[in-house]
Amino acid sequence: MKRVLASLLLALGLVGQVQAQGDPQAGRGKAALCGACHGMDGNSPVPNFPKLAGQGEPYLLKQLREIKAGSGRKVFEMTGMLDARDEQELADIAAYFAMQKPLSGYADPALVERGEQLFRGGDMALGVPACSGCHAPDGVGNGPARFPRLAGQHSAYTAKQLNDFRDGVRSNDGDAMPMRAIAARLGKRDIEALASYIQGLH
Ligand code: HEC
Ligand code: HEC
Repeated sequence: MKRVLASLLLALGLVGQVQAQGDPQAGRGKAALCGACHGMDGNSPVPNFPKLAGQGEPYLLKQLREIKAGSGRKVFEMTGMLDARDEQELADIAAYFAMQKPLSGYADPALVERGEQLFRGGDMALGVPACSGCHAPDGVGNGPARFPRLAGQHSAYTAKQLNDFRDGVRSNDGDAMPMRAIAARLGKRDIEALASYIQGLH
């Protein structure tokens, strides 16, 4: 299991991309439309709309580029919204949301045990590595490596992402396909348990 994880990490290439420097002050003024769904402080009140607060800036910028281009990820709710925004604007908005304070939620007590087991230890028999190996034990992710923060995220959104990776609807996890490979091994109940546990992580 350790070797699988190590080779995935290697294949992902932990080398940062050159990117525009984001200005959070400027980003605030450009994020009004986004705030309608994601919350102006990045803590979306709606479970289908992801929280962006405290998310890693390089990860946010990567998603914005890919959602804009429709490469590996399509967000119908955001159709056309990024078309007129250049690289600097995307970087500014990413910097703004990255600086907001994330709020966490609650886990379903009935699902915590299985969720925690999978998150921290994975499942040898299923060939699922521990999520904490990349997303960190407290779920805060790894900014420079562009492993997203998961802690406190809405469970409905997290479950949808895992299903989208599993079905190949979302494929922007790179050539090493870490998330598609992992989600393919997760059943419906395990996805529910993970999503619930993650919502309560803080
Ligand atoms: C009408 C609602 C809506 C608006 C307005 C909106 N979004 Fe989104 N956004 C969504 C939804 C829904 C998703 C998740 C889609 C999915 O299931 O993958 C999303 C996903 C994202 C993600 C990916 C988050 C992650 O954790 O991977 C980012 C980043 C993002 N939006 C930024 C923005 C920005 C910046 C704006 C403003 C320019 C914006 N959004 C406007 C609904 C919206
Ligand atoms: C080998 C590293 C690695 C492991 C192990 C891993 N992930 Fe990921 N995960 C990633 C990367 C990289 C991304 C970002 C893909 C991208 O850039 O769009 C990601 C993205 C995600 C997302 C989407 C986040 C968002 O805001 O849209 C979820 C949810 C997720 N992982 C859950 C999990 C769960 C649950 C596990 C354990 C079962 C896990 N991951 C194990 C590397 C990993």
